[in-house]
Amino acid sequence: MSERKILVTSALPYANGSIHLGHLVEYIQTDIWVRFQKQRGNQCLYVCADDTHGTPIMLRADKEGITPEQLIAKVEKEHLEDFDDFGVAFDNFHSTHSEENKECSCLIYTRLRDGGHISKRTITQAYDPVKNMFLPDRFIKGDCPKCGAKEQYGDNCEACGATYSPIELKNAVSVVSGEKPIEKDSEHYFFNLADFTEMLDSWTKAEDHLQPEVRNKMAEWLENGLQQWDISRDAPYFGFEIPDAPGKYFYVWLDAPIGYMASFKNLCDKQGLDFDEYWGRDSDVELYHFIGKDIIYFHALFWPAMLSGANFRTPSAVFSHGFLTVNGEKMSKSRGTFIKARTYLEHLNPEYLRYYFAAKLTNGIDDLDLNFDDFSQRVNSDLVGKVVNIASRSSGFIKKRFDGKLSANCSEPELFQHFVDANALIAELYENREFGKAMREIMALADKANQYIDEKKPWLIAKEEGKDAELHDICSMGINLFRMLIAYLKPVIPALAENAESFLNIDIQAWPADAKPLLDHEIKKFKPLMTRVEADKIEAIIEASKEHLEKIAEPAVKKCEPIADTIEFDDFAKIDLRIAKIIKAEHVEGADKLLQLTVDIGDETRNVFAGIKSAYAPEELEGKLTVVVANLAPRKMRFGLSEGMVLAAGPGGKEIWVLNPDEGAQPGMRVK
Ligand code: 2FM
Ligand code: ZN
Repeated sequence: MSERKILVTSALPYANGSIHLGHLVEYIQTDIWVRFQKQRGNQCLYVCADDTHGTPIMLRADKEGITPEQLIAKVEKEHLEDFDDFGVAFDNFHSTHSEENKECSCLIYTRLRDGGHISKRTITQAYDPVKNMFLPDRFIKGDCPKCGAKEQYGDNCEACGATYSPIELKNAVSVVSGEKPIEKDSEHYFFNLADFTEMLDSWTKAEDHLQPEVRNKMAEWLENGLQQWDISRDAPYFGFEIPDAPGKYFYVWLDAPIGYMASFKNLCDKQGLDFDEYWGRDSDVELYHFIGKDIIYFHALFWPAMLSGANFRTPSAVFSHGFLTVNGEKMSKSRGTFIKARTYLEHLNPEYLRYYFAAKLTNGIDDLDLNFDDFSQRVNSDLVGKVVNIASRSSGFIKKRFDGKLSANCSEPELFQHFVDANALIAELYENREFGKAMREIMALADKANQYIDEKKPWLIAKEEGKDAELHDICSMGINLFRMLIAYLKPVIPALAENAESFLNIDIQAWPADAKPLLDHEIKKFKPLMTRVEADKIEAIIEASKEHLEKIAEPAVKKCEPIADTIEFDDFAKIDLRIAKIIKAEHVEGADKLLQLTVDIGDETRNVFAGIKSAYAPEELEGKLTVVVANLAPRKMRFGLSEGMVLAAGPGGKEIWVLNPDEGAQPGMRVK
């Protein structure tokens, strides 16, 4: 078979947060697949980048008092360290905030525009009048217009599941300033997705582009008709300005997938690869995108349409996966199961997790559960108890009795060949991303190897006279079978495999399709390759993840108006606040909101109109003490002169509360 050329991507992580175990399902899945392809001798390149644009990144940088560029540089460093420590080996990791991405995004946009696939139209959106910016749905909170649940986002209600526009939200506030959003018009740019209905219909239906369950979902979406996609955002926005539209920026999701292309372009410049060979309309290079099932719409509709409309090739396939649950539930910050990559790394070996994920991954889109008891049990029993144990059981005698040299004789050629023959099925399972099944096949081989040693009982043979050759053959066989298992596990646990290769004193192993046993070969001293998972480390991770929450708690939605600008004491002293007794309260004819109050402020009585009718009946007020602003300039109203102001709090309606001083305060006393 001739060498395949393959380009692989994982979804680009946002540059405003840390990598967590949920992300790692995908990076580990992709990395295993890529390592497998490389081990098979295919030319497989794995590129990724940070997804750096958009409002959340702009606002987070603002909050931290740094520029978005500084923020994304800091996060990129953190991401790269996490990936590196988890053995996720990209051939290139770039950024969507790069020259290459700007160039590719402008090119794609221009081609789509020239092809007549871009329209303009004015839309009305929520706008923060304090921050002077349009608000994405996630930056607006309020009460659900359907069920009234409080603190819901601008696009849907988590309590009743209703979807709506942020304009419909009741008592809406901007998460950014706490201010009530206003509505504002703005011209937006749209990608006419419907122009690609026919193309998408055949692309999504073609065998191998999508998993069957995803293909069905796409058919539903296509049947419902494709809507125009809003690809522009107004300033202030962190992103690329649209070439022919000053003040308008590409929406982050437009330039994010183009980031795959841009990262590859950056690699071309470093390695002299031919960009067009990979991305040209007629490319026969395989192109695969690994993604989470939440972003299928972008990858299976927008992205192929954009590529096709801009005269580029489309993906060979999009591989979606499910979400990670921990101990059967959604990851939760309060339960300590929202675990960052770094927190895990501080306590446990990353290859435990790589193996565990591999053992549970399928090529479907079901969620994957990380159950910590199961995790310890599988790693301890499979990797430590079965695989590593074979080497430790066999190597001692080789070292002590045979000078570290394996036998020149292969005593069980059939058994060895059985291990070699398994390569075809294991390869097929890796190729089809059925890693769980592949791990089961490999562990079945490990069981066979252990059974062989159990049956041959080298520890008894070692005590018998004249059985040296037999002992030598058995232990050498054990080492040779171990070597085969390592070759099969190499994509999953590359660091352990590397240490095992150094113990076996062999070169980096290719896929062992025609492996021969190591005969008369010197091995090195065995060092433990993996220790058992310790339960207290898991507890420590959960504990540390709980602590993180307090440190990084999201800013709460502001419940109150922002505090006004600071004033000097002298300014405050100008306001003369007095204790007042409400002597009389009465309705005002023709006034919906006002009550007329007669208040005693010590040496005089005043007439005050107060907008509290919706919350108080006059009789509730008579006899009460309150506070009035006594030196407010009298105001002539339609119903008479108001000679002061009663202090009250609350948003309005029934929710107005007149201030009462504590018992003992007397009319006329100054409040200070
Ligand atoms: O959902 C996300 O985390 C996005 N940052 C993924 C982008 S993938 C690609 F399109 F860039
Ligand atoms: Zn609701």
